[in-house]
Amino acid sequence: MRGVILAGGTGSRLHPCTHVTNKHLLPVYDKPMIFHPIETLKTLGVTDILIVTGGNSIGDFMQLLGSGENLGVKFTYKIQDKPMGIAHALLLAEDFSKGDKVVVVLGDNVFDNAKIPTFSAADNDKAVIFMKEVDDPERFGVATVDEVGQVLGIEEKPKQPKSNYAVTGLYVYPPDVYEFIRTLAPSARGELEITDVNNFYIKNGRMCAVKLDGFWSDAGTFPSLMRASNFLWSKAEDARNS
Ligand code: G1P
Repeated sequence: MRGVILAGGTGSRLHPCTHVTNKHLLPVYDKPMIFHPIETLKTLGVTDILIVTGGNSIGDFMQLLGSGENLGVKFTYKIQDKPMGIAHALLLAEDFSKGDKVVVVLGDNVFDNAKIPTFSAADNDKAVIFMKEVDDPERFGVATVDEVGQVLGIEEKPKQPKSNYAVTGLYVYPPDVYEFIRTLAPSARGELEITDVNNFYIKNGRMCAVKLDGFWSDAGTFPSLMRASNFLWSKAEDARNS
């Protein structure tokens, strides 16, 4: 499987820090944010990685990450001309994925990598999402779950969330994902929404929803950036003291 890290967007929730710096280059504990999703993909055994970001920042990413040799991976870079959403950015991975499944991770998501459950990549027809119980689901895509835990659908940033299960920014998609994205219309915020893509697979009985027990946070707001940094710091302290 090949991997894609989506590192575009305006980072408006982190202004003024993102005024001249791409969000994914800001530090989360001891490394630029983008290093953490790279580590997540490596943990999942994915080393062929496409980085998608805006034209203003692509040079910074190339300078920081290079070919990937130092990190034991291989990077390809693509420019998203306009910040038109996660699903729009994913379209740029079509040639790169060469008809295979792709693992997609949002560049501002921080996971306890060791605790991501293994998932089967064998079923070429299914998508996979990873859900985490949170206290502030209204900030995320939120899964509607029935009494036996089956995911019925996802609502993007609902005012009245139907569960506490946030859909995290780690996804696996079959090769037909691009075909479906091309049929999507922009949402009210002018973006092609990844939640619409996920709902397509749920509706067609082609979604495997996995629950996460380990730590997960985005780092796209000041409190969540702090939370993600604190988690990585305490993990490093534990390792130093053990
Ligand atoms: C995006 C997705 C949302 C998901 C979240 C995870 O939101 O749209 O469904 O739960 O990432 O970090 P964003 O933070 O880009 O608005």
